[in-house]
Amino acid sequence: MPTNRQVLIRSLPEGSLAAENYELVTLEAPNPAAGEVLCRTLAISIDAGSRAGLQGSASYAGAPTTGIVMNGTVVARVEESEDDAVPLGSIVTCGAGWQDYSVQPAADLTVLSDEVDPIHYLGLLGGTGMTAYFGLLDITDPQPGETVMVSAAAGAVGHLVGQIARIKGCRVVGVAGDDEKCRRLVDELKFDAAVNYKNAGFRNELKEVTPNGVDVYFDNTGGMVLGSALFRMNLNGRISCCGVVSQYDTSTPEPGPKGVPGLLVNKRLKMEGFLVFDYADRYPAAREEMIGWMNDGSLVPWIDEVVGLENAPTAFVDLLAGGNVGKRVVRVSA
Ligand SMILES: NC(=O)c1ccc[n+]([C@@H]2O[C@H](COP(=O)([O-])OP(=O)(O)OC[C@H]3O[C@@H](n4cnc5c(N)ncnc54)[C@H](OP(=O)(O)O)[C@@H]3O)[C@@H](O)[C@H]2O)c1
Repeated sequence: MPTNRQVLIRSLPEGSLAAENYELVTLEAPNPAAGEVLCRTLAISIDAGSRAGLQGSASYAGAPTTGIVMNGTVVARVEESEDDAVPLGSIVTCGAGWQDYSVQPAADLTVLSDEVDPIHYLGLLGGTGMTAYFGLLDITDPQPGETVMVSAAAGAVGHLVGQIARIKGCRVVGVAGDDEKCRRLVDELKFDAAVNYKNAGFRNELKEVTPNGVDVYFDNTGGMVLGSALFRMNLNGRISCCGVVSQYDTSTPEPGPKGVPGLLVNKRLKMEGFLVFDYADRYPAAREEMIGWMNDGSLVPWIDEVVGLENAPTAFVDLLAGGNVGKRVVRVSA
């Protein structure tokens, strides 16, 4: 029986998350019973939203708990099977968390086709890509010629949102926390403009790159960037509230910006939150469209890979500080 390394939540963060909030333990891998399979983790999705789970602000995730394996979606290979529906060698996705091996009920697994590199099921074709797709298209209904602004624009969700908006004929403005990220969004992903929210002149720069205002704002961050976006919104604009990453890595999150609700009223804005799993029955059709865009080159998925399960805690801490470009994954085995 192989050994199984697990990354456990040792303690809940007070202030910012640190690698010391986790510990690595080694046990024997578990045995599958009838109807179950043994999965070997190939790669783990590192998600900003998991920090909200540790903060206790993601009500759908329940109360934060210590002493358990850190949660996360993985791509895995089936190494033992007690269910004929999922044969040995199948590549699957499941919520195994940060560990080498896990036993999963066969009925809970999504078996992946071999037509696409499975790593994309953690990005473009996974919860990340579905968030970008439904959070933009269903919540804001962007029209050709409209200006779409997106925050955390060089991150996993954000870089896909901007590209989908561009595919829909919109003018796309990204906001990110690093000049090199902004350059790459424009040069490599064909955003119309990108501005660095850490620059002292950010509000003026945002104004300059949105001369006709903003029709749609896809909000990954909340905080100061949301506050700035509200002042650039056009009449009847739409704001998709995807997440609040600027307020996750702290024990003292700030209240919302002062333009709410006054600017919503005066500008007749719609501001709507969503959770991606409410769209699960529509994932297959969305994936088909995303694969088409990837294959014809109109959508470029960025994968940001860190190697080694033992490096997952630092990969997560670094993501919250803006160290990733595109979808961060941790490669656990080949
Ligand atoms: N509603 C849903 O169903 C759903 C599903 C999935 C994800 N989400 C949300 O989507 C958002 C993006 O998640 P992700 O997994 O794709 O993460 P990500 O964008 O790949 O990584 C997080 C990024 O946030 C930026 N950031 C960190 N602190 C910030 C601050 N104070 N102000 C502005 N930006 C900051 C960093 O980039 P910079 O260099 O630009 O600072 C960092 O790269 C999160 O809010 C997450 O909760 C929502």
